[in-house]
This record gives sequence, C-alpha cells and structure tokens, in this order.
Amino acid sequence: MEVYVFNNYDEISNFAAKMLVNFINEKPDCVLGLATGETPVGMYKKLIEYNREKIVDFSKVKSFNLDEYRGLSGSHPQSYRYFMNENFFDHINIDKRNTFIPDGTCEDVEKECSDYEDKINEAGGIDFQILGIGSNGHIGFNEPSSELYVYTHLASLTEETRKANSRFFKNVEEVPDKAITVGIGQIMKARRIVLLASGSNKADIIGKLLNGKISTENPSSMLEVHPSVAVIVDKEAAAIL
Ligand code: PGA
Repeated sequence: MEVYVFNNYDEISNFAAKMLVNFINEKPDCVLGLATGETPVGMYKKLIEYNREKIVDFSKVKSFNLDEYRGLSGSHPQSYRYFMNENFFDHINIDKRNTFIPDGTCEDVEKECSDYEDKINEAGGIDFQILGIGSNGHIGFNEPSSELYVYTHLASLTEETRKANSRFFKNVEEVPDKAITVGIGQIMKARRIVLLASGSNKADIIGKLLNGKISTENPSSMLEVHPSVAVIVDKEAAAIL
C-alpha cells in the first residue's frame, strides 16, 4: 500500500484529482468507481476546474458509484444520484447515460443488484476506484460484520453510520436504514484503488487499516491484500501512523 500524507484537505483533494487526471489522460475511455460523502467533494471540485480548463476530458469515461440509499429516488436531495449530479456530473462533460448508480427505488432489489453487478462486469470492471472510509471501517456500505458480501447487495446500515450520515438529514430517523452497495469483491477487483481520509475522526481507523491485519470487522482492512492501493490522508487522519 502506498501512503501519502499531506498537510491539509486541500492538498489531498488536489493530489487525488491529479492522479485521476493522469489516469484518464492515459485511458480516456476508462471506467471509474466513484464515492459520495464529504471527503471526495474537494477532489470533485478540482476535477471540475481541470475539465473547464480542458486538462481532462470525461466524454468517453464511464462511472459506477458504490452505493445508493434504499427508498430514495434520484430526485431526493439526500440521494447519492442527486449528490453526484450536484457535486460533479452536472459540471463536467461526462455523458450522463454513462454514469451508473443503483436505483434506490427499484421494486426488485435482488434483480437491481445482479443487474448492477453485470453492468460493471460488461463495462470491463472498474479501472480506478475512489473510496472514502467510515470511522467504523466501512467502504461503500460494507459495514463491519462477522461476514462480508462479495457481490452487490442490500445492506443494513449500522447505527453508527446512520448517526454519522444524519448530518445531511433533518434527524437520524430520516436516514434510511438500508442501502444498495457493491460488495467487497467488486471493490477488490478494481485495478487501482485510491482511498481518501481527512480529519482526526478518521485517525483511529486509518491506524487500523495499516496495522497489517485483516478482519471482516474492519472491511477496509481487505484493501491490505490488494496490489495497487494508494491511501491519501491529511496529517490529522495520519495521527496514529
Ligand atoms: P465521509 O464519509 O467522506 O462523509 O466522511 C465516508 C464514508 O462514510 O465512507
């Protein structure tokens, strides 16, 4: 695992954006795995600037997001489809038809999950996966548990995650308790993975991510056996390294 420690959030955002720009410039029709949450927003902002300056072109890029809340449609302001449009897709020259996010309001969840898995595989798999990390070690909505799912599935969110995400909702009761998420298998098949973390509330989990042990109780620890992972953190998130 490569570990890059920077002074602040702005620096990690810029560094990750440049990595991605270089990657897209080498493979303009690449398949990206994208993440929501607060952490990647700064990177998306930089990428929007680079796209405006014509330093990067998204016209041939495909993207697959990690997850979507069960029950929220794409027009719901807290849905991840809405988040991605607002924070990224609406501001770059990507073809929206090439941006995929599970449908949180689908009737048949099992079918939605297996179709999503098929779509990623038909696209050739993820070339470059961006990840955030929950303070409990979740990646996507793969929550700590005695077992982890390999494939895209309907996940139950832990109370810790619902509390952490309630900052975007009116209250914790409004946070859905389920989400469709890609599984650990699809994440681990990505050819390149970049995990971003910022702030002191991520210091403990970043310490555990890099402690040389694997546990399903810390889903992020699976990344330790992946051949090409970059962990990009600010000083606060690196406090325990
Ligand atoms: P955050 O979320 O970027 O908002 O901290 C990360 C995550 O829960 O995966």
